[in-house]
Amino acid sequence: MLKENLLKMKEEVEKRIKEAISAENVDQIRVEFLGKKGKITEILKGLKDLSVEEKKEVGKIANDVKVELENKINNAIEEINNKIIEEELKKENFDITFPGYEAKKGSLHPITIVQRRAEEIFKGMGFMIADGPEIEEDKYNFEMLNIPKDHPARDMQDTYYLNTGHVLRTQTSACQSRFMLDHKPPFRMIAPGRCFRNEAMDASHENTFFQLEGMMVEKDLSIANLVYIMKTLLTEILEREVEVRLRPGFFPFVEPGFELDINCQICGGKGCPTCKHSGWLELLPCGMVHPNVLKAGGIDPEEYKGFAFGVGLTRLAMMKYGIKDIRDLNGGDLRFLKR
Ligand code: DAH
Repeated sequence: MLKENLLKMKEEVEKRIKEAISAENVDQIRVEFLGKKGKITEILKGLKDLSVEEKKEVGKIANDVKVELENKINNAIEEINNKIIEEELKKENFDITFPGYEAKKGSLHPITIVQRRAEEIFKGMGFMIADGPEIEEDKYNFEMLNIPKDHPARDMQDTYYLNTGHVLRTQTSACQSRFMLDHKPPFRMIAPGRCFRNEAMDASHENTFFQLEGMMVEKDLSIANLVYIMKTLLTEILEREVEVRLRPGFFPFVEPGFELDINCQICGGKGCPTCKHSGWLELLPCGMVHPNVLKAGGIDPEEYKGFAFGVGLTRLAMMKYGIKDIRDLNGGDLRFLKR
């Protein structure tokens, strides 16, 4: 009796599974027959009233039926789910063999590349890398550099003043001032960074540009040391021998001061708008640190000598990559920057 009931149930479950249209349907069938209070579970409770012999036989059948039905239920659920996915894929018209989108790779800005390369070169020569704020105090940007309030040199570096009295720094030389106050000589430092000036923009002037300031202070230093370090830097960065010339130049914080020019890498020296048709580009102002600057930094100018330089990183990048117009560098046109 019990055995027949079981087999009948089995048939019924199988029939119902075939008719089921959703995974939920099938799961309901599981509960209805195999759940705690399911129909088959109830039948199995009758097993305990059977004789030992019968228990053995029917018990085995009962177990087989249970296992078989459970498998069928699981398979049915899987089949239904697969069918749903297949149908959705058909609807989406999704072609898995279609090539994916290419991931867009970013790249470093030309100025960043030049800055990092310069940092490496200077680190190799024992220089420390210093930093300073872009919104600077007048004191560090001008006064400590021998440019008092009424000094005409301020004219060349017209910049943006904030209501607080701060300035957007016009030169990374401001980092020299800060560095001298926290470091005892001898030292070698560079400070790369962004500077700002009120400029009329043209192919070689921008209101925002990058400089790299450098300073070396030791007991015994000469212009020859300065020229050697500058030549090393330029040869390594531009990866070619360049022609340089040294002209006298005025900067309040150096004495004597120089302009180190290189032959224009754009036109090869023939003359073009970038070099204002002179064949030379002003690239590297430098000089021996003025005693007033050393004094302002707490360094005894009788005991120590220093040289300093300020490389235009923006111009250096232009020379290295043959970029004709400075405005391309800050322009944000990725077609240009990618090249
Ligand atoms: N700060 C100067 C400028 O922006 C560049 C400069 C000139 C820096 C001479 C120096 C230096 O350290 O010695 O025009």
